[in-house]
Amino acid sequence: MEINQKLLATFVRARVKKIALGFWVAEYGVGYRESFAGGSAAFNGAGASPEAIRFHYDVGTEFFRTWLGDELIYSAARWRDPLSNAPGLPTLEAAQTNKLDFHLRSVRAGAGRSLLDIGCGWGALMRRAVETFGAAEAIGATLSSEQFDYVRGLNIPRTTLNLQSYETLALTEPVDGIVTVGALEHFAKPQLLRSEKITIYGNFFDRCRSFLAPGGRLSLQTIFWQRVDRRLASEIVPSSVFPESDLPYLDEVLEASQRQFRTLYLESSEDDYSLTLREWLKRLRRAHKQSPHLVDEAKFLFHEDYLRRCVVGFQRHRISLARIVLERL
Ligand SMILES: C[S@@+](CC[C@H](N)C(=O)[O-])C[C@H]1O[C@@H](n2cnc3c(N)ncnc32)[C@H](O)[C@@H]1O
Repeated sequence: MEINQKLLATFVRARVKKIALGFWVAEYGVGYRESFAGGSAAFNGAGASPEAIRFHYDVGTEFFRTWLGDELIYSAARWRDPLSNAPGLPTLEAAQTNKLDFHLRSVRAGAGRSLLDIGCGWGALMRRAVETFGAAEAIGATLSSEQFDYVRGLNIPRTTLNLQSYETLALTEPVDGIVTVGALEHFAKPQLLRSEKITIYGNFFDRCRSFLAPGGRLSLQTIFWQRVDRRLASEIVPSSVFPESDLPYLDEVLEASQRQFRTLYLESSEDDYSLTLREWLKRLRRAHKQSPHLVDEAKFLFHEDYLRRCVVGFQRHRISLARIVLERL
């Protein structure tokens, strides 16, 4: 058994090396688990179904904690202002807090103001909004049952949580600001036409506009396809890791939002994600050694492989990261 696991590790590592050299590799994730079986027929949303989201996210909060850190923030940190030459922040934790604060300031979160977090993950942004910015109310939406249970267990004051897609969410009152970080990547299924994706993102921005009070802002963070040969796309962000999901192109997001919003600010940084991914990889490797009950060999290889593919994607400018601040028209 021991020898088999070592052989498997050598095999997967050899394939990762091949990826680093840019060769095509057909298979992925050997030994971790069955591939995604497909979402329920009852779900008729435009993007990843709840089953597809749970396939990726509901594999153990304590497992994610070993490499994401205690705040469980699963998106690129903001290590520095992309136009500045100043040195970046020293730790992942500081850079993640800087990212949360960037989005919260962008939507002017604060006392007497309400906030909606679409794709709230394990609740770090909602908690910071309420506890540090003094927001009057934070509403969250996620499709992950484990995230939903975890955030409810945090008992953050003045929060409401929905295990629901933004597509079916209904609010009783308009909110003053919306933040959505790392969720747009799940809103469109793979292999759609550009026009179809723009319609889907346009519907998302319509929903956001309807949720917002006049003058309200939306701060959005997403990975996007940059310089990519679409035939190689699944090598970088494999559908066996993120089933039923496709990234946007930046122009699709901007075009889709123009009807409902004006663009106040846009920044882009590949470094922000490369640095975050490297830190996650370092922590995942350490946890694999120190906490094998949380990070067993197969789970480790699967996640290490996928995180390394993403690093290569950012380094080669095939994918990038955008933060966009929009104001309701
Ligand atoms: C990569 S995680 C990011 C979580 C969090 N924003 C963070 O930065 O840590 C993506 C999140 O998007 C959520 N999500 C995906 N599709 C969604 C949808 N249609 N409606 C609401 N949330 C969705 C997932 O459930 C998950 O919470």
